[in-house]
Amino acid sequence: MTEEEIKAEIILDHYRNPRNYGKLENATSAITEYNPICGDTVHMQILFEGNAVRDAKFIGRGCSISQASASMITEMIKGKTVDEVMAMKKDDFLSVVGFNLGPAREKCALLSFNAVEKLVKGYKK
Ligand code: FES
Repeated sequence: MTEEEIKAEIILDHYRNPRNYGKLENATSAITEYNPICGDTVHMQILFEGNAVRDAKFIGRGCSISQASASMITEMIKGKTVDEVMAMKKDDFLSVVGFNLGPAREKCALLSFNAVEKLVKGYKK
């Protein structure tokens, strides 16, 4: 299996069995990101406690990349400090989700990244 095939399998697995999907009852911050071109959405909810992301969940609908990347980012940020999440770079996230995503597919993957970035920046203020 090539590295690209492995990443495709991982995306499919997250799409079919999304991690941290659902309503986070005690969320301290939430935001909905929306792609106006296709209508796909990611509603990201985070429970901040002190300087940490205690919990994160999402609800969404859309393409496999947008939904799988939302699942993946919730796994990545849970338990991290706010500063660690703020230090996450867009390109690093894209390389985790998959390489050779064209510009349109990058937008799919970045819906959840942008949601998390806005929530963390808002919390930090
Ligand atoms: Fe809409 Fe992927 S096609 S976010």
